[in-house]
Amino acid sequence: MSQEIEDHRTLNASDNDPFSTVLEKRISRRTVMRGGLGMAAMTMLGGFGLTACSDDDNVMTGGASASGSTPPNALKLGFNAIPGSRTDAIVVPSGYTAQVLLPWGTPLNASAPAWAASNRITPAIQANSVGMHHDGMYHFPLDDSTASQDFILAMNNEYIDQSALWSPQNGPTNQSEGNRPADEVRTEINAHGVTIARISRDENGQWSLDQTSPYNRRLTSATPMTLSGPVAGSPYVRTAYANDGMTTRGTNNNCACGYTPWGTYLTCEENWPSVFTKAEGRNADDDRLGIPTGRGRYAWETAAGDDSEDNGEFARFNATPSGNSPTDDYRNEPRTFGYIVEVDPYTNTRAVKRTHIGRFRHEGCWPGKLVEGQPVVFYSGHDSRNEYIYKFVSDAAWSAMDANRAGAAADRLAIGDKYLDKGTLYVARFDADGSGEWLALTPNAMTQAGDQTLAEALNIGVDDLAGVIINTCDAADLLGATPMDRPEWGTVDPVSGDVYMTLTNNSDRTESGTDASFTNDGSDIEALGAGYASASTNAANPRADNESGQVIRWREPAPGATTFAWDIFVFGSSVDADDNLSGLTESNQFSSPDGLWYDDRGDGNGILWIETDNSGNAVADYTNDQVLAVVPSSVSRTPGDAAIVGPDDQAQLKRFAVGPNDCEVTGIFATPDKTALFINIQHPGNWPANDAVNSQDATVVTSGTVRPRASTVVIQRADGGQVGV
Ligand code: FEO
Ligand code: CA
Ligand code: CA
Repeated sequence: MSQEIEDHRTLNASDNDPFSTVLEKRISRRTVMRGGLGMAAMTMLGGFGLTACSDDDNVMTGGASASGSTPPNALKLGFNAIPGSRTDAIVVPSGYTAQVLLPWGTPLNASAPAWAASNRITPAIQANSVGMHHDGMYHFPLDDSTASQDFILAMNNEYIDQSALWSPQNGPTNQSEGNRPADEVRTEINAHGVTIARISRDENGQWSLDQTSPYNRRLTSATPMTLSGPVAGSPYVRTAYANDGMTTRGTNNNCACGYTPWGTYLTCEENWPSVFTKAEGRNADDDRLGIPTGRGRYAWETAAGDDSEDNGEFARFNATPSGNSPTDDYRNEPRTFGYIVEVDPYTNTRAVKRTHIGRFRHEGCWPGKLVEGQPVVFYSGHDSRNEYIYKFVSDAAWSAMDANRAGAAADRLAIGDKYLDKGTLYVARFDADGSGEWLALTPNAMTQAGDQTLAEALNIGVDDLAGVIINTCDAADLLGATPMDRPEWGTVDPVSGDVYMTLTNNSDRTESGTDASFTNDGSDIEALGAGYASASTNAANPRADNESGQVIRWREPAPGATTFAWDIFVFGSSVDADDNLSGLTESNQFSSPDGLWYDDRGDGNGILWIETDNSGNAVADYTNDQVLAVVPSSVSRTPGDAAIVGPDDQAQLKRFAVGPNDCEVTGIFATPDKTALFINIQHPGNWPANDAVNSQDATVVTSGTVRPRASTVVIQRADGGQVGV
């Protein structure tokens, strides 16, 4: 997430069964289950692997024994945990290297100049250079034989550091009052979005950009995009730009990412509401999502009316109705944002907003376990306090014929139409007994109260699926979804299908037994336009004023299942905190887990990489943001532990890397041969150390003051071996 732009208001005013006495309840549940009475969870788990478990309490340990012994075939982490660090440099274990790659402002083609700290960034320069504030990213091979040394990198550029962007001019101009200059706004718009770049590794292990590659391109907050799925063409998204409601311009605040089995990139719109303003004519979804009534985050709307303005390029950020109908103005423009956007990195095809995966502040979007003949599944979380976790299940059954063939010509977005435009969107309810249910967001679904359909409660037509999607959050409120501690990244073990998701923190989580409060000062979650302002602890979110977050894990009997079993994998904490429920030590204390990636290493083993975005607590006093590693199959739950990683497992969870001062560490994948781990360093304060070359040592401590640049960092072993083991 981005600390600087996240919206800390709680916009979920729903009143969904905040459970009481959560932690105690969870522990007592285990006691009950060990006694053989956890029948709800047991029944649900019956279809997938209970036979591998030695007792009831082990149902979610992913094959690890419950006796405290590590399975003999568990993968071993092969590095020594590093201490915390607070310097202007990356720190990696002994025997590893770290290279700066593709920092902000790197030219992607000959139309932009080489980076210099003195560069004055223009709209054209930024449109032809790497964007700002790198976040999620993924790799797309051009040939299976070269997949680990030559591929297309697709990367999100989540938001901007105006101070760094405008430092040569001492800008930004008129950020707080007055009209922003048109070209400053265009430059800022072009610094957002997605960067696509072809990169390769030479025989010395050095990575570089191919500046001549036709794959290199940018998508920005101005790039034309197609709307697809239920919302496309509906009255909800008709604007002065697109009277037919089939297109829009731009993707914004692209946070975590995802990918599809057919070779496309998914970029996810997170903190987009704040780039708009809507003083009047507001709908419930404007309130529920927190569209500002005053100046937008960067006041882009104030450039409207500039002589150079093209087709409402700035006016569209002001959604207050000004014309006689929706096609006269931009009242519906915010309704063209808040989606998962599918990008074909292999072609210049127009990106597609896949509306069926819901409309909210999407952190990311992760494919579930892929099974031939079964639906294709994607998980997504809404990163705001007390918001929800979602799952999309395709109508179409997966066919391996649609799998990506590296570099081959294919209409990948047509395959996306098949799997992403028809299906069912669900929201999660986590029950105190360790079971859970996916609740279908369809017009005819009955609300939690049981007396109305969603269509009736939302005041929309009986078949109006687009209306449900536009109002995804209120619909989820009405179904009784469980408010979570800010869902960030998810990841899936492709063999077991276990899903992990970070719940980063939640300062609006209140003590057990307290009443929920709501964003509209009202008294119930069913009110349209209102979400939770605060919610008391529940089983899946058991700590009040949750400062350090947790990683939750669940398993489903089949990809399209509507039930699941869940548990807490690990709780973040400082060593000395009273609620250090996983028993963390100095060598692995962490807070605010954010990035997450299950790195499958075969034989049922994999490394779960955890990245943090922490600030202002005891862990932050000890270390900058970091990357940790744990092999889930090496962890041995001790009965009664609050989480799967418990006090006996401290040697299995290790700090692997630490970022430079003021950054967050986000975005992560490894090359298929596992010899290079890619991470992103977002909003560093004074790093990387020098601007002279594109390839440089990320571990060099900056001397003096530099114009900071978010950057990808490639971590490799000096001996060329696999990372982490
Ligand atoms: Fe952009 Fe929730 O992180
Ligand atoms: Ca994040
Ligand atoms: Ca509501």
